[in-house]
Amino acid sequence: MRKFKEWITGKKEEVEYVLFQPMVDESMLLQKSYRLKNGEVTEVFFATNADLEAIIQIQEACYDGKAPWGRIAVHSELRKRTSFFLISYHVGLPIAFIGVSLRPESVHVTNIATIPAYQKQGLATFLILMAADIGRKLQRVVMTLEVRMSNEGAKRLYRKIGFQDGKIKKNYYHNNGEDALDMRMNLNKMDEYNEYQQIK
Ligand SMILES: CC(C)(COP(=O)(O)OP(=O)(O)OC[C@H]1O[C@@H](n2cnc3c(N)ncnc32)[C@H](O)[C@@H]1OP(=O)(O)O)[C@@H](O)C(=O)NCCC(=O)NCCS
Repeated sequence: MRKFKEWITGKKEEVEYVLFQPMVDESMLLQKSYRLKNGEVTEVFFATNADLEAIIQIQEACYDGKAPWGRIAVHSELRKRTSFFLISYHVGLPIAFIGVSLRPESVHVTNIATIPAYQKQGLATFLILMAADIGRKLQRVVMTLEVRMSNEGAKRLYRKIGFQDGKIKKNYYHNNGEDALDMRMNLNKMDEYNEYQQIK
């Protein structure tokens, strides 16, 4: 009986380890820093619960003091083994993040933001490419996202990286009923991808 208990307890630990072990770890991050236009370096990490307030702060800086993804939503994503955030800091200031959900065949970008003072320096591009690289390491073949039809800057960013327009989701956003544009990028295009690895 004792042996059986030991066996079943051991199995339970094994199952818990497999189910809750995060799918990503620091070794999967291709570059842990990014150089801004002025030459200064920003650091990039996988976010943990300790970065929750920083993720909220970045959103508030980008969306007129509001955070579309509130604390409960961000906290829930931070706990999932199939989701991760990459966050960038410059001299202690949180400046950009990307939220990602790992689906069976795809990497889905749930949110991305760079605070205004640091925009147009390639940070969002860098974070998308780092997340795409992690997706490829985990055998995902496509990266997907939804963007508001009115968000011309973001659409331009995604198209520049290599995302293609997909279908339109009618009345997708609850707050104003705006349509969303589905976008996707094939992660198997090695040549195009290698070009982006040059970003420092
Ligand atoms: C969209 C956003 C994440 C872009 O971040 P970023 O770090 O400035 O992006 P990058 O510097 O990597 O941009 C690369 C390219 O994307 C395009 N782009 C990015 N922002 C743009 C804007 N506001 N207007 C027009 N083009 C833009 C440009 O072609 C840019 O290249 P360039 O600087 O050589 O012109 C940022 O503006 C932001 O946080 N916006 C508010 C939140 C948001 O809308 N998130 C997207 C939700 S789907």
